[in-house]
Amino acid sequence: MKLPPRSLRSLPPGGLQSPSGGRAAMEAEVTQAILALRGVSVRFGGVLAVNDVSFDVRRGEIFTLIGPNGAGKTTVFNLISRFYDATAGTLAFEGRSLGALAPHQVAGAGIARTFQNIELFEHATVLQNLLIGRHIRRRTGIWSEMLFLPRVRAAERETRRKVEEIIELLELQHYRDALVAGLPYGVRKVVELARALCTEPRLLLLDEPSSGLNVEETSDMAFWIQDIRRDLGITILMVEHDMGLVSKVSDSVLAMSQGAVLAQGSPAQVQSDPAVIEAYLGTSEDAGSLRRQREEGR
Ligand SMILES: Nc1ncnc2c1ncn2[C@@H]1O[C@H](COP(=O)(O)OP(=O)(O)OP(=O)(O)O)[C@@H](O)[C@H]1O
Ligand SMILES: [Mg+2]
Repeated sequence: MKLPPRSLRSLPPGGLQSPSGGRAAMEAEVTQAILALRGVSVRFGGVLAVNDVSFDVRRGEIFTLIGPNGAGKTTVFNLISRFYDATAGTLAFEGRSLGALAPHQVAGAGIARTFQNIELFEHATVLQNLLIGRHIRRRTGIWSEMLFLPRVRAAERETRRKVEEIIELLELQHYRDALVAGLPYGVRKVVELARALCTEPRLLLLDEPSSGLNVEETSDMAFWIQDIRRDLGITILMVEHDMGLVSKVSDSVLAMSQGAVLAQGSPAQVQSDPAVIEAYLGTSEDAGSLRRQREEGR
C-alpha cells in the first residue's frame, strides 16, 4: 500500500479535504495552516502591488499562485521572505508573526525559496553552492569553529551528509564538481532547487519553477516537486504560469490580478472561474495555456 506523504499521515480520515464546519473543524484548520496571510497589502508609490490579500497554506500541501504578469505574485513571495514590509495586514508562519524576522533570519526560521531569475554563485561549483546554502543551518559559534571542536566536526559531517542526500534526490551527482556558469539552464534550475532544500525548510517557495524549461524538463520538474512534498514532507507555495504543471501538482490554487485575489479553490475550479478567464484575456500566452488545460480536463 502506498502511504500518504509523511506530513499528512497524522491527519484525520478525509485529510486536508475534510469539509469544514463546527468549532473542532475550524480549530483543526487553524492548526494546519503553516502560513497565514490576512489582509496583506503593499504599495510602491502609486502602485498597489498587493491589495488586501488573505490566504492559508496548509501543512503538507502544494499551493499555487497564478495570475497574469504584474499580478503581484512575486511581491507576495518578497513579503514572505521579508524583502519588503507589508503596508497593511499580517503574515504568520507556524503561528508566529513574520514581521519580527529580519530577511537573513527567514531561512533559519524554516522558509526557503527559489527566484524567478535563478540566483546562484555562477563561478562556484554545484557542491560549493549547496554547501553555502547549507551554512545557515550551522549552529556552532565562531570560537568552536576556530578550535575545530568535536561539535564542529560533527556539524561538518552532518552538512556533507545532508548535501549528498539532496544531490542524490535530485540526481545531480554528475554535476557535483561542475561550475554553475557552464551548466545548461535546466540543470541550473534544479541546482537552485537543491540549494533551497539544503537549508531543510518546512516551507519552500518556488517562483516559476518551469520558466525557461522545455516540455521534458517541465515534466521532470513536476516529479521533483511531488517527490519533495512526498519524501521530505515539505509544504510548497509556488508561482507558476504553466497550467499543465499547475493542474498536475497543486492541491489548491489562488488566482490574483492587479494585486487582488480573484478566486481560490481546486485547479479545475479556479481555471474555469469567469473572473480568472477574464483576467487572462489579452495575455495571449497565459490564456492559451489556460484554454488548453481546460480543454484537456474535459
Ligand atoms: N520594488 C518594486 N518597486 C516598484 N514597483 C514594484 C516593485 N516590485 C514590484 N512592483 C510592481 O508591482 C506589481 C506586481 O509585480 P510582481 O513582480 O509581483 O508581479 P508578478 O505577478 O510576479 O508578475 P510576473 O508574472 O510578470 O512575474 C507590478 O506592477 C510591478 O511593476
Ligand atoms: Mg513574478
